[in-house]
Amino acid sequence: MNILAIETSCDETSVAILKAKGGLKNPSFDVLSNIVLSQVKLHAEWGGVVPNLAKREHQANLIPVLKKALEKSGFYNSKLQSEIKKEKEIKIILNREPELLEQFLKFIPTIKPPKIDAIAVTIGPGLEPALWVGINFAKALSFIWDKPIVAVNHMEGHLAAVLLQNGGIFNFQFSIFKQIQKPKFKNKKQIQFPAIALLVSGGHTELVLIKNWGDYKIIGETRDDAVGECFDKCARMLSLPYPGGPQIARQAENYKKYPLTFRMGGWTRREMEKEAFNLKLPRPMIDSKDYDFSFSGLKTAVLYMLKDMKERHVNIGDFTPMICNEIQQSAVDVLVLKTIKAAKEFGAKSIIIGGGVAANKELRARMKKAVAREFAKTTTLYLPSAKLTTDNAAMIGAAGDPHAVNGDFIKPEKMTAKGNLSL
Ligand code: KG4
Ligand code: ZN
Repeated sequence: MNILAIETSCDETSVAILKAKGGLKNPSFDVLSNIVLSQVKLHAEWGGVVPNLAKREHQANLIPVLKKALEKSGFYNSKLQSEIKKEKEIKIILNREPELLEQFLKFIPTIKPPKIDAIAVTIGPGLEPALWVGINFAKALSFIWDKPIVAVNHMEGHLAAVLLQNGGIFNFQFSIFKQIQKPKFKNKKQIQFPAIALLVSGGHTELVLIKNWGDYKIIGETRDDAVGECFDKCARMLSLPYPGGPQIARQAENYKKYPLTFRMGGWTRREMEKEAFNLKLPRPMIDSKDYDFSFSGLKTAVLYMLKDMKERHVNIGDFTPMICNEIQQSAVDVLVLKTIKAAKEFGAKSIIIGGGVAANKELRARMKKAVAREFAKTTTLYLPSAKLTTDNAAMIGAAGDPHAVNGDFIKPEKMTAKGNLSL
């Protein structure tokens, strides 16, 4: 089954083409192309994602990203430009995306319909103005090429990213396509159930019990901020650019590299650690009996810490690496402990980590250690390659495949953006 997948839930415009094999029992994917155009630099100027700016960018970028995805996968076949059929209906479908409509009407008549069996598109959760652009694009392609649509939950996509261990990904930033990794085509691993998944992104922090693909139960989630959101907000307080997660990780990594006697600003690391400021942050809800999380308390603790330092005229810049390290440790402590606890209680044979924060090296390393220590050989940890943890369309295609195999297609007119969709 060949799937064309589209992802526009937040600030990455992405189109992928996958060849899916193995059906429901033993899914495996050849990622033929996975083009991601990140808008991150644009949004960074505003300190976070601006929904209407994201919508505008998706509109402008979808056709170039589609073209690149078709070319990279070998599915691009030009033809002599013909009159576009069904133009009136396409104008209605893309009525709210005038820039996309204009590019669509120019580009689509110049190519032969690609040999795909289905179109998979993210319908939520995410930013609704952004989701709508991808949805309407999928509707227009479905209509013109006569292909069925699978509606995909973005979080199921983050889960399915583990099935794409070697998925090729191509980054396309500001008109420059950059090939990060050559696509390779295998996944021979079969995930054993029950599994516990930790999904950590900018909008979500949840622990999911998976009895099989499609059978999900959220056993715990954040009661306030998601962990990625907490990193982004803390980074902002420390004057680090958006998105904050990778910035905090980088600062923390630097901090750990310094020997104790290395001088940063006016301080050695040893002096900093001995300093009277209370740089110890809380580990919110680490002792709670349930599997819920809370990260707004961590953010508030950072706020008070910085306020205290300012009142004492301390140069916060000197302490930024150390503070970032403590923020990261706090979050990772809670995430690892609760995941291991859940895996033990539910007898998990597999632990899956997904979502943007799963790119975090400290989280990956600590989770690997904890799983090796606590489970000997009974439980396997599945981590998507770091490039596939953040939003991309290949993961949407992988999540869409079992639905397509089941014939679980959606009527285009029934499809709407669902900002708060849950698993
Ligand atoms: O899954 P994702 O790309 O988008 C959403 O669906 O939200 O996740 C984005 C989040 C952001 O909060 C970002 O700061 C965080 O993932 N993130 C990281 C790292 N890379 C991205 N957080 C910690 N360490 C990283 N290396
Ligand atoms: Zn995401």
